[in-house]
Amino acid sequence: MAHILVIGSGMAGLITAIRAARHHDVTIVTKDVLTAGSTSWAQGGIAAAVFGDDSPALHARDTLDAGAGLCDPSAVRVLTEEGPARILDLVALGVAFDAADGAVPPLDPVRDWARGLEAAHSVARILHAGGDATGRLIEAALAAAVRTERIRAREFSRAVSLTVRDGVVTGAVVEAHGVTEEVAADAVVLATGGSGRLYRHTTNPPVSTGDGVVLAYEAGAALADLEFVQFHPTVLAGGGLVSEAVRGEGATLLDASGRRFMLDVDPRGELAPRDIVARAIARQMRLQDGRPVLLDATMLGASVLHSRFPTIDALVRATGVDWTQSPVPVTPAAHYAMGGVLTDMDGRTTLPGLFAVGETSSTGVHGANRLASNSLLEAVVVGWRAGDAVSRPHDPLALAPATSTTQESAREPLTSTIQESAPSDLTATPVPLELANAPDALQNGGRSWSSSDIRDRAWQSLGLEREGASLAALAQELADARPADEEARSLLPLARLTCAAALARTESRGAHARTDYPQLDSAQRVRRVVVRPATQSP
Ligand code: SIN
Repeated sequence: MAHILVIGSGMAGLITAIRAARHHDVTIVTKDVLTAGSTSWAQGGIAAAVFGDDSPALHARDTLDAGAGLCDPSAVRVLTEEGPARILDLVALGVAFDAADGAVPPLDPVRDWARGLEAAHSVARILHAGGDATGRLIEAALAAAVRTERIRAREFSRAVSLTVRDGVVTGAVVEAHGVTEEVAADAVVLATGGSGRLYRHTTNPPVSTGDGVVLAYEAGAALADLEFVQFHPTVLAGGGLVSEAVRGEGATLLDASGRRFMLDVDPRGELAPRDIVARAIARQMRLQDGRPVLLDATMLGASVLHSRFPTIDALVRATGVDWTQSPVPVTPAAHYAMGGVLTDMDGRTTLPGLFAVGETSSTGVHGANRLASNSLLEAVVVGWRAGDAVSRPHDPLALAPATSTTQESAREPLTSTIQESAPSDLTATPVPLELANAPDALQNGGRSWSSSDIRDRAWQSLGLEREGASLAALAQELADARPADEEARSLLPLARLTCAAALARTESRGAHARTDYPQLDSAQRVRRVVVRPATQSP
């Protein structure tokens, strides 16, 4: 029996833990309570091809189309083909998906489920629970399952670093209540969620500060696709998400004068892919002096808004708007990181002993723009496989031979290795990349930056639309920065890495929009991989 250490406790981490606990001793460390991660905040639901008029191939096609040429097709195939079986496994773990209106008991677990539609899905295939409380109910069911297993859950415990011996990850240094200790493990699984808190405006909970990505980078694991950050189009002032499922039911977007504007931008209107809708809203806001656009859901009627969307109903009402009577002001906000720790579909990273799952990872299923409601699906599919794969922890993901390797030195002895690896059917093209190396600058840096400073600058320069001069200025500022608070210790290296990746991609693709390079460049249909070279052993 091996000891498996899972860092983080959203859906992907909990699934991995539950699956691994069949054969192994499992410890979860999580920096807040078990259920504090972004899974609990997920509203829309989970996409899977479970219905008779749908198929994994159709779901794969939608996923590839949304991903703007950068999805790994073999990973997408695994996601969509294994998705339906994992949905039934979630039911067995206690998740009750909502039944369609009018369905009468005894319910058929698939045929009678309600079907939601979200942007860029060609059929309604989103399953939901508790109306718009899907993530909260899934997370609650998994947390309950964890408590009945022989799994140690250590809440309010933060991983400070990974322990690496002879190139193998052998555990982590964990801090709790001011006491630091080394926890040894045969396999470590990073499941710390996303990094939306890098931005001033985000849908993410406070714990989403990209910790796993930074821990992996410092330990020498490869990262990928960091320039791709998805912005959700419809967020309330103060950060509350208004699910795309509301537009899926028919809600429309209006400018400040009450005119519907999305059909001028894209024939799919409000259900165009998320990056298109988010950028259209940002442009419309510029035309109306920064005022939010309006989401009009009045046509859905009070009973649908209360019963189908109880969570959003409460969030909207808390802003003082009665959305059954008038449109709600909304703006885009940072929502999901497509990039992260490079893994295969078993969660294997490039370091032996280290796995990553969920939003922390970059499996290639999301490409340049994630299809709505595929994130919970990826969490369960890859978490499940990783829970099995941890039995063979020293069999890391091998990077395909790079067509280009650039070693750039921001200042001696700071170097990072940039490689390019292609999705399986794509041709890699060498593009040199400069990178300000993160962790060393932490010690040497000049001006001290608070997490709040970082969020403001990230919002200005790394937001929905990026521009070379502004990115270069930010890279310069970040190169001399040091963290002023605990949160900034993660956010600062993450900002540097994201900025470097955004500078390097001189095209607009999916969620990455460059105003100075507005076109897609087929020569850049490559995934960018960043590896910090091994430092000298002490
Ligand atoms: C939403 O409910 O709009 C968010 C779903 C997702 O991000 O996949």
